[in-house]
Amino acid sequence: MYEYELVGACVKLLRDMFMMQPGESIAITCDTESSMEIVEATAQAAVILGAKPLVFKIAAPAGGKAGDKDMPMEALIAGIKACDAWIEYNTKLIFYSTVYDKIVEDPNNRPRYMNQNGVHPDLLVRNIGKVDNILLNQFIMAMSDATEKANHIRVTNPAGTDIEFDNEPGREFVTADGFVRKGEVKMFPGQISWAPRFESINGVLVVDGSQNPPMGLLSAPIRFTVEKGVITKVEGGSEAQQFEEWLRSFDDPQMFRVAHLAYGFGPAAKLTGDVVEDERVWGCTEWGFGNVGAILTSDIPEGIPGASHSDGICLNCSVWLDGVQVLDNGTVVGPTPEIVEMARALGK
Ligand SMILES: [Fe+2]
Repeated sequence: MYEYELVGACVKLLRDMFMMQPGESIAITCDTESSMEIVEATAQAAVILGAKPLVFKIAAPAGGKAGDKDMPMEALIAGIKACDAWIEYNTKLIFYSTVYDKIVEDPNNRPRYMNQNGVHPDLLVRNIGKVDNILLNQFIMAMSDATEKANHIRVTNPAGTDIEFDNEPGREFVTADGFVRKGEVKMFPGQISWAPRFESINGVLVVDGSQNPPMGLLSAPIRFTVEKGVITKVEGGSEAQQFEEWLRSFDDPQMFRVAHLAYGFGPAAKLTGDVVEDERVWGCTEWGFGNVGAILTSDIPEGIPGASHSDGICLNCSVWLDGVQVLDNGTVVGPTPEIVEMARALGK
């Protein structure tokens, strides 16, 4: 599918977002569950741009650190680290494995990286091939800066979310603006993630999109009461019950704590049950529970360990930054006319 458009989308990805230069090398990693169409198209795009692709395909390991034992670790580390850029299409993540940790440990000597775990042609063509990625970068950077400056934030949605919190001054945002410069580690574009002051999070979260893992798309919303950053009540139908049991199954109090939130700003993202795309649906907020990755807590270098992590999507959010409304049921309405104009130009 998309055998014509896919190479075009990959050229945009490497040329406009990775800023690949002739003669540079790019590691393209995948496993036996990955879409090989996308791997081939990325390698073709690299050649078109005069760059040198190097494909690393491995037998699908277990995910995360559990996969260490299955990977040709030393060869992967040395091979990927020697490249100028790295794009990860693995479905069983190198991200979170020891291989990843070793490759990125030195910010001054590592390939620039974008995480595209499990991305398939349909998703790439829709979310990169058909998007003005340069305008999206400008919009996301502006919205990220405005949100980072705020002290107090309130989020609501039509399903019943009404939650407030304070930002933790100095804690860096993780902004997936789509551009990958020297030494940078970036997620798939269209998302702004951050960890607020955990104990300041109070209110009600109603997840009405997907809850991943373990469910995916929901047939009925799940309502979470959150007090001082801790889930104190889970209500809803059978999926709510299932999810509460899943949280309890880890016997880890961190699983009942809010880990982060994120805005979704993918202009073409659809709710499909595929977490990469769900969390980028325009105007949603995504709320993570459990493990807090170190990338989200620049003030706590080791992060906050938890047994697992799950993300819930609240659709069509309204958001106020220090009382100034920026989102109204998923539509950008502030904080400045320029930001609103960029959102409209992106078709939203
Ligand atoms: Fe998350």
